[in-house]
Amino acid sequence: MALRIATTKSELMKIKSETDEIDTKSSEDQTNIEDIVKQIYRGKLISDKVILHRSRIMRKLHTGFLRAALRSLPSGIQSLDASHPWLCYWIIHSLGLLGEYIPTDQAGHIAKFLSSCQVTSGGFAGGPGQISHLATTYSAVMALCSLGTEEAYIVIDRVALQKYLQRMHQKSGGFVMHEDGEEDIRGAYCAISVAQITHLDIPRLFEDTGYWVSRCQTYEGGFAARPGTEAHGGYGFCGYAALLLLGKQHKIDLKRLIHWAAMRQMKIEGGFQGRTNKLVDSCYAFWVGALFPLIVAQINKEIADNKSANSLFDRESLQEYLLYCSQYHTGGFTDRPGNSSDYYHTCYSLSGLSLAQHSGPDKCIIGHPDNELEVTHPLFNITQVAAESALIYFNKLQIPFLDS
Ligand code: FPP
Ligand code: ZN
Repeated sequence: MALRIATTKSELMKIKSETDEIDTKSSEDQTNIEDIVKQIYRGKLISDKVILHRSRIMRKLHTGFLRAALRSLPSGIQSLDASHPWLCYWIIHSLGLLGEYIPTDQAGHIAKFLSSCQVTSGGFAGGPGQISHLATTYSAVMALCSLGTEEAYIVIDRVALQKYLQRMHQKSGGFVMHEDGEEDIRGAYCAISVAQITHLDIPRLFEDTGYWVSRCQTYEGGFAARPGTEAHGGYGFCGYAALLLLGKQHKIDLKRLIHWAAMRQMKIEGGFQGRTNKLVDSCYAFWVGALFPLIVAQINKEIADNKSANSLFDRESLQEYLLYCSQYHTGGFTDRPGNSSDYYHTCYSLSGLSLAQHSGPDKCIIGHPDNELEVTHPLFNITQVAAESALIYFNKLQIPFLDS
């Protein structure tokens, strides 16, 4: 797709993605989504599932959708499901971004449930009786930090967690997602983010990890799951955030990363795609969107006298995609119009919306002032308030001793 710049909304409406005259399944899907999004932006009702003109965040519906799930946690979820901590994290963080309070008894109940997912040899599993996994370890730790009570913080067995991270660390510097699993850039991010927030022995746990992550940057400029594979938004966030948390951000080609990330914003939809030639999806509002404030903060840090770097993406268009195209009529957010909402897309749409509002030198709130969300921390993706409280609490504790 070649980029054409439109200067007015009506010019934008005339634009179609260029397909080099060759029709493929991807180009057909892209044309369909562009037609739907254009109808929404023109203010037309395209189906009973799409509501006319949503310039306002549907707070009550989203809160209702999230609170209903919170009430049934954990008893309402299937015992074989391997993503219980993820559900807890998506729901608690979403409510936090909406500025909603979680009652103390409910917070206690969730902390106890997450404790039952913790494995004696370290880390958290997808559910009681399952094996530890780095992704569920990340979501359990971030859910507990989002609850923000001492009862929640003390659930985390930091000594066992540190030993678990040490076992997942490979000679190459990479991390496997679980015992006998494959190395994956998500593992490196999950490991460094939980180690940073709970104050573990970073230098000893992460030998060569910066080098391993930098090898995941591809010819396009983004990051792949492991060296030699395809760049993707989810991995882009994991890669760059991991490097920043490790203090190894200089190991990559930043210009190429900026170019790759900027090219992911869709010219008609305003939201982001996750990889070249794929469709817009609301979750990339966070996975790709978070790269911009992280990059801008880094640039501004290095040129401290001259805070010149602004925002590197269109903050207004991203908010429009999330508000107009992704809000679902019964609450929650969907990836694209026509699909139904789920907790994953609700969490990452709200996170992306928050970043778009707060990630520049000035606030930028599209629509009603009530659309403003709480600030999310772009490295951990829990609210700024939750991240600061957790860091204060854990940084007071001693780094656990690590056997070699
Ligand atoms: C492709 O899905 C998805 C991937 C290749 C990986 C996604 C990775 C993340 C979202 C990062 C997860 C982060 C942590 C911290 C565990 P697809 O083919 O269905 O979607 P696409 O068409 O949009 O690429
Ligand atoms: Zn998605």
